[in-house]
Amino acid sequence: MKRLHVITWGCQMNVYDSARMADVLAPLGYAPASAPDGADMVILNTCHIRDKAAEKVFSELGRLRRLKEATGGRMILAVAGCVAQAEGAEILARAPYVDIVLGPQTYHRLPEMVARAAQGGPAVIDTEFPEEDKFDFLPDATAPQGITAFLTIQEGCDKFCSFCVVPYTRGAEQSRPAAAVIAEARRLVAQGAREITLLGQNVNAWHGEAPDRGTWGLGRLLYELAELPGLLRLRYTTSHPRDMDDELIAAHRDLPMLMPFLHLPVQSGSDRVLAAMNRRHTAADYLRLVQRLRSARPDIALSSDFIVGHPGETDADFEATLALVRDVRFAQAFSFKYSPRPGTPAAGATDQIAAEEKDRRLAELQALLREQQARFNANCVGSILPVLFTGPGRHPGQVAGRSPFLQPVHVTGPEHLIGQELSVHIAAAFPNSLSGTLTEEIVCA
Ligand code: 5AD
Ligand code: SF4
Repeated sequence: MKRLHVITWGCQMNVYDSARMADVLAPLGYAPASAPDGADMVILNTCHIRDKAAEKVFSELGRLRRLKEATGGRMILAVAGCVAQAEGAEILARAPYVDIVLGPQTYHRLPEMVARAAQGGPAVIDTEFPEEDKFDFLPDATAPQGITAFLTIQEGCDKFCSFCVVPYTRGAEQSRPAAAVIAEARRLVAQGAREITLLGQNVNAWHGEAPDRGTWGLGRLLYELAELPGLLRLRYTTSHPRDMDDELIAAHRDLPMLMPFLHLPVQSGSDRVLAAMNRRHTAADYLRLVQRLRSARPDIALSSDFIVGHPGETDADFEATLALVRDVRFAQAFSFKYSPRPGTPAAGATDQIAAEEKDRRLAELQALLREQQARFNANCVGSILPVLFTGPGRHPGQVAGRSPFLQPVHVTGPEHLIGQELSVHIAAAFPNSLSGTLTEEIVCA
């Protein structure tokens, strides 16, 4: 048995990819190792979306170099993911002890790359966007993911937002066929998954080949997955406002198991900045969409992503973002300082915003978002929420799960509740979680 350790940065799609890389390597005798020390192979699955991603990779590589030396150079060191895709050559120049550099679209070729690396020749680099679809070459997922599972249905992006590297690192938008998605969902449920989150950089742009003929949109796929026996909950992330079509909104109205929580990044509340970002919608379009979603599913909670300090963002633009946030009232949100990504249009703009200004705007936006999140959580106190229990809680004797709105919920209860969805009377709210007491016996299993 050989030992494989994977270090993952970034989004849930990377978490999914890391698991699939382990699946690809399992037939070669690689079993997961929880630490890199003494491992036969270490994969760094990297993210390039913001900040000093490449620097983090190089400092980790420095640490791994010593561990590799301790194995007499036997350890195979691979850099995968979006930094590998964007800066593959640079990685090999600065860290020549790396054996394999591979992009997000080529990891089905890992066995071949590992065989070549084991021969001790020059480093293997494969950052192509191949003709073949990697999913056609991947083995079925082997390691069970647990009660809540992720399933990538779509990859890449054709939207080219001014600030974003995804269209360059993940390539053009691609949708997996409906039949492949449904088959994988069935397997996940058979392995114990009770909640599935469909993943994609632009998940609601999914337009997969239908099992009969033509294509389906995400709404149709959700209606179909909702029929799977044993599955209790469905989610999907991340969506673009322009791709929320009527059928998808109708699915929110019709499918109780489609959780009333939607991550719908808006990035900015200023029409001028939205245009500069190439988002191709206005603040009013977003607000109208939120209204339609709320009429379809009155309890839907919204989450979003924001960028402050995009090139050209004025104080007035930033105020428009705050105004949109006040208008929508988010349950939760992520917010970031604009970070120039080499090769993206905004990185070359001359009207960059000063670092201190970005800091100031981010602090103000985050204070408002924190306040909204606290209010949302506080409003849950006194209500009864279905909680899907996924693991042990923070303290002995506790179990933890997720509310429909993705809040972690802690209760006192035995471990055999894990895997069940039970009603919980919410007694207290914290900044990022809730606690409560079980109100009844199993409602669903
Ligand atoms: N700078 C800052 N934030 C970014 N994001 C994407 N690219 C950048 C960038 N260059 C944020 C967006 C996106 C989230 C995943 O990361 O808000 O929705
Ligand atoms: Fe990036 Fe925009 Fe595509 Fe999202 S929609 S992945 S932000 S380019």
